[in-house]
Amino acid sequence: MTKRVLLIVGGGIAAYKACELIRLCRKAGIEVKCVLTAGGQHFVTPMTLAALSENQVYTTLWDLKDEAEMGHIQLSREADLVVVAPATADLMAKMAAGIADDLATTLLLATDKPVLAAPAMNVRMWQHAATRRNVATLRSDGVTVLEPDEGPMACGEYGPGRLPEPEAILAAIQSQFSGQPELVESPSTGSGQAGERLRGKHILVTAGPTHEPIDPVRYIANRSSGRQGYAIAGALAALGAKVTLVSGPVALPTPPGVARVDIETAQEMANAVAQALPADAAVMVAAVGDWRAEAADQKIKKEGAAPPRLDLSENPDILAMLAKSPHRPGLVIGFAAETERVIEHATAKRERKGADWIVANDVSGDVMGGEANTVHLVTSGGVESWEKLPKDEVGRRLAERIADAL
Ligand code: CTP
Repeated sequence: MTKRVLLIVGGGIAAYKACELIRLCRKAGIEVKCVLTAGGQHFVTPMTLAALSENQVYTTLWDLKDEAEMGHIQLSREADLVVVAPATADLMAKMAAGIADDLATTLLLATDKPVLAAPAMNVRMWQHAATRRNVATLRSDGVTVLEPDEGPMACGEYGPGRLPEPEAILAAIQSQFSGQPELVESPSTGSGQAGERLRGKHILVTAGPTHEPIDPVRYIANRSSGRQGYAIAGALAALGAKVTLVSGPVALPTPPGVARVDIETAQEMANAVAQALPADAAVMVAAVGDWRAEAADQKIKKEGAAPPRLDLSENPDILAMLAKSPHRPGLVIGFAAETERVIEHATAKRERKGADWIVANDVSGDVMGGEANTVHLVTSGGVESWEKLPKDEVGRRLAERIADAL
């Protein structure tokens, strides 16, 4: 069946790329209906979008004729996917706050369909704490927010903030339709180089917590949100790597271009990791449960009985096993979540587990589940301490370091 996209074109210079996106979608057999914001109309005209999409273009909430023919609620629901490209800082802020003050934002609030946002803005706006917060909110609300490309910008500055290339947005659209994350090759960035740096490399990433069952309804878990591991997987894919993400239970969308394998227990994670080999590098970010219980077949009842004792046994150390395996990836990176003597423990952990690098962080504050991370990179050459950074940025920096090493 023909897939239908509702494309919301926001007000940014990158709006011209929406024209190419429509063309590519049509070529791929996807029907496109466009909504153009007031800002967007400064950059492209409704006529251009109508001609390319071969559909009516909607611009205002207050058009009686449009509303009579196709109410805005219907417009927000008849598509299979809502795509916002370019998603400006303002549009994303309104989406995150649930503001509905024009046709685009009203549709975004009224829709019951998946939403994919392709951001484009000045680098400072992208890196601003308010935008970081809004992107994190949107992602935790289930919106897929693509990473912008890095490169020279229309405003003369350089950095992340360019709209991903239309081919990359199309790949993300198709991966949403397939329901399954595909091993799509990540697109190149505007500079034509960054997206190539890890082309041809397979990188394994573990992320999230594990759930160790106690009985059919209870389990042992930890506070890991999976955000740091997902940010790393996304950043690696953006550099062109083929990424397998073995993930514990988390509430995060799969980053574009990443093949995700969902598991629950440490044992399942160990099996999935073994199956994903060979790999050129492995980044073990998961907070693997150290112990598992002998799970009862039926729900444990509390009536009369004393509280049950949990008989725990140790889980396999996946990182240590991988580092010693005959199929060891060339570069093995572990994480060390510590609450005290961070560098000392991490240095010892690197030796003990046989990892090449350890990324150590102090989790005594609000790191687990939070937006930012202060990490120390421990290698054979010593320790490098990074300033406090958003988890996305930690992911990007680490991905660049991996690309340098490979
Ligand atoms: N790890 C793993 N398998 C385990 C436990 C940990 O692969 N069963 C990996 C994690 O993914 C991480 C690293 O080992 O990359 C360190 O995890 P951490 O929990 O800090 O280390 P532990 O070995 O559990 O040490 P401790 O809890 O004693 O600090």
